[in-house]
Amino acid sequence: MVKISVSVLSKNNRETIEKLNETSVDYFHIDVMGGKFVDETNFSISKIEEVSNYAVKKLDVHLMVEAPSTYISLLPLSKIEYLTVHYETLNGDFSIFEKIRHEGIKCGISVKPNTDVKDIFNLLDKIDLVLIMSVEPGYGGQDFLESSLDKVKLLKSEIIKRNLQVLISIDGGINNLNAKACIEAGCNMLVSGSYIVSSNDYEKSIDLLRNV
Ligand code: DX5
Ligand code: ZN
Repeated sequence: MVKISVSVLSKNNRETIEKLNETSVDYFHIDVMGGKFVDETNFSISKIEEVSNYAVKKLDVHLMVEAPSTYISLLPLSKIEYLTVHYETLNGDFSIFEKIRHEGIKCGISVKPNTDVKDIFNLLDKIDLVLIMSVEPGYGGQDFLESSLDKVKLLKSEIIKRNLQVLISIDGGINNLNAKACIEAGCNMLVSGSYIVSSNDYEKSIDLLRNV
């Protein structure tokens, strides 16, 4: 069954987190924006700690920052299951994967819409998850880019061909209208923000993403 990770970028107050705790959602997706890789700046480390204190679900942290390795020791590691960094920020230094795994955390790598997914094929045996960005990183509430599905399919066939255990997650503009296509293309996890948190029935929206 596909996993659902709810992005709490736009609504990260205690009340929303506690309401989501009562649902069947699998993870809280926390977008960390540093103001350089993306223009926005958002979650401070203290805010992440606050969310992690209220959350009864594991965290799926998406670092949209330059120099991501400087963040590792600042994060509430015991609550994190996946820590994802952007391929575009690594400049050919992939030592961060071992650092993340050394903390007992699963390691993800994300690619922006214009990055060729084949660029990360040689890294697939060092990571646990690929996060395909289906919008330009930086903001919630954007429209899903259909071209992301071809990337997912290409990646899925490579994972199957090499018999790897890497999961595929997709982030940006996910809703009830495109979830089925994402799952059919090969996604194991769907990250969804506005679609879930703007709805008046979180569980129903989560169900619609899973069972379309
Ligand atoms: C975009 C973020 C996403 C975003 C998803 O830069 O990485 O996680 O919050 O929100 P929606 O589902 O509204 O596109
Ligand atoms: Zn994200």
